[in-house]
Parts: sequence; C-alpha cells; structure tokens
Amino acid sequence: MKVIGINGSPRKKWNTATLVGDALEGAAETGAETEIYNLYELDFKGCTSCFSCKRIGLEEHRCSMRDGLTPVLDAVSGADAVIIGSPIYFNGLSATTEAFLERLFFQYITYGNGPTFCDHAIRTAYIYTMNVTEAQLEHYGVDINRFRRFTRRILGCEPFELYCYNTWQYPDYERYEHQIFDMESKRVQREEVFPRDRAAARELGRRLASD
Ligand SMILES: Cc1cc2nc3c(=O)[nH]c(=O)nc-3n(C[C@H](O)[C@H](O)[C@H](O)COP(=O)(O)O)c2cc1C
Repeated sequence: MKVIGINGSPRKKWNTATLVGDALEGAAETGAETEIYNLYELDFKGCTSCFSCKRIGLEEHRCSMRDGLTPVLDAVSGADAVIIGSPIYFNGLSATTEAFLERLFFQYITYGNGPTFCDHAIRTAYIYTMNVTEAQLEHYGVDINRFRRFTRRILGCEPFELYCYNTWQYPDYERYEHQIFDMESKRVQREEVFPRDRAAARELGRRLASD
C-alpha cells in the first residue's frame, strides 16, 4: 500500500502540514509506504487546456505538461491512496491545491465512454483547516462539494474528510491583528482541540490505508 500526502498550505510546519503528517504516520503504522509533497515548494501551473490527455488512441491518459508537478502526478497515479490537505482560503481550497486538483482530475476525465481514465481506484482523504469555528462554517459554508463529486467519479471512491476549525494562525497573537477573535476559544482549540484533531488525522490515515 502506497500513500501520498499533499500539503496544500504555503506553511510547511503549521496546521495543515501537521495534520497531513499525522495522517501519513497513521498510514505508516499499518505498514504503508508514505511520501509527502509540499505543493508550494514546486514550480507549476494549473491545467493549460492543451487537451493532450484527450487525444484518441492514447495508451495512458496523463497530463503532458512537464513541470514541478509532474513527479507528484506520477506518484499519485501510481499510489493506492492520497491524503490532500488544504487550508480554507476564501471559503474554498488554496489556489495552489486547486491547481494541483485541476491537473490530477482533468487528465482522467473522459469525453467519451466511461466515467474515468484512471485505471484503479485511488482512495482519497481531504483534510481542511480553517479559521472559522464549526458554528461559523454553518453560516459561511465552504465550496468543497464539487471535490467530493469529482473524487467519486474520477478517482472511484467516497472520500474521507477531516475538518479542523478555529485554527491557531499566528506564532504570537499579540503582534498581529486579532480583535475579532475569541482568544479563549483559540487557546482551548490549540491546547485541547488540536491534539484531538491530530489523533483523528492519525486514525484517518490508519483507516485509509487499511479499510
Ligand atoms: C489568503 C487567506 C484566506 C483565508 N480565508 C479563510 C476563509 O475563507 N475561511 C477561514 O475559515 N479561514 C480562512 N483563512 C485562514 C486559514 O484557512 C487558516 O488559518 C488555516 O488553518 C491555515 O492553514 P496553515 O496553518 O496550514 O497554513 C484564510 C487565510 C489566508 C492566508
């Protein structure tokens, strides 16, 4: 079992990266081979609409762009499972995570017969971290249904999902704007809730790699 982790946050040691790392550790506990990619370290663009992946007669329908994302797409295409972590930016995924998903999904979308060109189901988990509380999310909403839908259709599985709310955003809140936040609930999140989120991420990785 090979499991790929994707950190779609620009920060390599903060909330998203930590939870993706925990999920990979959970997967590794079941014997899985794991690997993590930090998308913001890579030089790549979203899909450029070249349609090479839609040419008739191809043996493999794979993205023909050659850039920093190519090894990541190759790794995911050869994996059994992928764990995609993204911070929520403006109620959606980070732009860089979206660019990665454009390239991953579009190469497999069929305009002919059949639901997907992906030759095996890739078990998928999404980890979302965000500043809003769970109650605030009910109000603001988040634009992720389409990723669920495309994951089912293209990667062939019902995705696992983990939401981490009310994240600790700064190293030191005293030095940054923070008046709108309830600092007591941020403290509770950091000291009590985040450790539970980390345990949930580890469990998610275990289940993803062993179910
Ligand atoms: C450009 C930007 C946009 C953001 N938009 C939202 C948002 O719409 N909703 C939200 O809950 N948090 C938002 N946040 C906060 C991040 O989602 C949150 O701090 C996240 O946990 C950061 O992940 P990281 O610690 O892994 O970098 C935003 C942060 C940035 C930098």
